[in-house]
Amino acid sequence: MAPHVLIFPLPLQGPVNCMLKLAELLCISGISVTVLNTNHIQRMLLRHTNVLTRFGRYLNFRFETISDGLPDDHPRTGDRVLELFEGLKAVTEPVFREMMVSGCFSSKSDAPVTVIIPDGVYPFVLDVAEEVKIPVIYFETISPCALWTYLCLPNMVAAGEVPFKSNDLDVMIKSVPGTVNFLRRRDLPSFFRFDDLADIQTQIVLKEARSVPRAYGLILNTFQALDASILVHMQTLCPNTYCIGPIHKLYKSHLTSESILLSNVSNSLWEENITCFSWLDSQVPRSVVYVSIGSMAGMTVDQFFEFWHGLVNSGKHFLWVQRPCSILGEYDDNQVPRRLVEETKKRGFITTWVPQEAVLAHSAIGVFLTHSGWNSTLESIMEGVPMICWPQNVDQQVNSRFVSDVWKIGIDIKDTCDRLTIEKAVKDVMDVKRSELIESLRMFVELGGQSVTEDGSSIMDFNRLIKTIKSL
Ligand SMILES: *[C@@H]1O[C@H](CO)[C@@H](O)[C@H](O)[C@H]1NC(C)=O
Ligand SMILES: *[C@@H]1O[C@H](CO)[C@@H](O)[C@H](O)[C@H]1NC(C)=O
Ligand SMILES: *[C@@H]1O[C@H](CO)[C@@H](O)[C@H](O)[C@H]1NC(C)=O
Repeated sequence: MAPHVLIFPLPLQGPVNCMLKLAELLCISGISVTVLNTNHIQRMLLRHTNVLTRFGRYLNFRFETISDGLPDDHPRTGDRVLELFEGLKAVTEPVFREMMVSGCFSSKSDAPVTVIIPDGVYPFVLDVAEEVKIPVIYFETISPCALWTYLCLPNMVAAGEVPFKSNDLDVMIKSVPGTVNFLRRRDLPSFFRFDDLADIQTQIVLKEARSVPRAYGLILNTFQALDASILVHMQTLCPNTYCIGPIHKLYKSHLTSESILLSNVSNSLWEENITCFSWLDSQVPRSVVYVSIGSMAGMTVDQFFEFWHGLVNSGKHFLWVQRPCSILGEYDDNQVPRRLVEETKKRGFITTWVPQEAVLAHSAIGVFLTHSGWNSTLESIMEGVPMICWPQNVDQQVNSRFVSDVWKIGIDIKDTCDRLTIEKAVKDVMDVKRSELIESLRMFVELGGQSVTEDGSSIMDFNRLIKTIKSL
């Protein structure tokens, strides 16, 4: 039977990005692929990218769509992500089941679906897949270190370490193997801070922790050398893992070797402002602070002003991405001190969205002030840019702890963002600690690069994945 993979991403920018890259890699390897996007994601992709032309080159590829259960005009912002999960549960789950049971993807293409690759946060896909007897390989687009804390949640509950009251966040966590010397309550995923196990997000994670090990396999966006200390433990629960990251580099290596033009590859859901590059070109090498809190996170007006003061007080130049809806609340232009406006004119570039990978690769960038999303973290690592981490949600609290204490490639300022902290962190990374951070980064740039060339570990795992898919 010809292999036909159904890819089903979580409808958020990061996961969609990774899944589309995987989809294209599979197409290049001669596997038929159907990507099931929510209507909303598909609309955004069609508006801002050339996905149709890009994927139009593959005769074995198709897009399908499904409702996310929310009205068209719902903003789907980070602060309302629970509504998205409710919509998925109420509407998407039953519709998906109906689609699979009726075999609709199979009848529309020449071949029936032989493997499903869903996001790890979709336990219901495993239930449906068991019903229709199709194997599932989960793709976890969050970091392996945070996924590991998810998988250990039942242990933590049994050991009485979770739930906890949020008053003392510096207590060390003991039941996550591989992290006992450095992981504090504060460094667990944000939703572990709820003191009630019945909390809906905690329940989502518990379900995920139970379903992921039951699947046929697990794809991770990392490379062996980066996460070896965690992977060795994870493999006791999930023996069949494929570490194919950094997927954006694996992707590039395959496109080049297939000599396909890389002219305009974007999976961005917003319009990207490319005039930032002429501004960056005019800056001194390694002198600019790049600030972005990603596609979901937000900051209050107070935090926004603390960031702004801190950046200006650091005396450095900065490129600041202020995504639409990322500032929660309103402020009056009269509230803005004249000094901030004037200094920003001299030293700052503010815009709504940029092509991040290319920005991080620009020689002018000296530090990335980030929300520590996994995709952003990997991009920063691979471009050798040290980080200041201000994590908000999901895996970010764990990622930032690994950045500061395990990989030693940045500073973690979680749970604070007053102007003094920002100013000090910028100066620390740009001046005081620069050389040691760069030294550790250099090693990961090299090891990460090796993993996606010739017989590197990620290439080998990717080839094994292809072989598995063809055999199932
Ligand atoms: C890439 O494609 C999009 C959508 O077709 C277009 O809006 C954008 O200007 C293109 N970017 C470049 C750099 O060509
Ligand atoms: C990674 O995420 C950032 C921020 O969410 C986005 O700007 C960027 O395009 C993503 N990069 C890739 C390669 O998917
Ligand atoms: C890009 O950002 C600059 C600086 O904020 C702004 O002047 C320009 O209008 C923006 N361009 C687009 C196409 O949004």
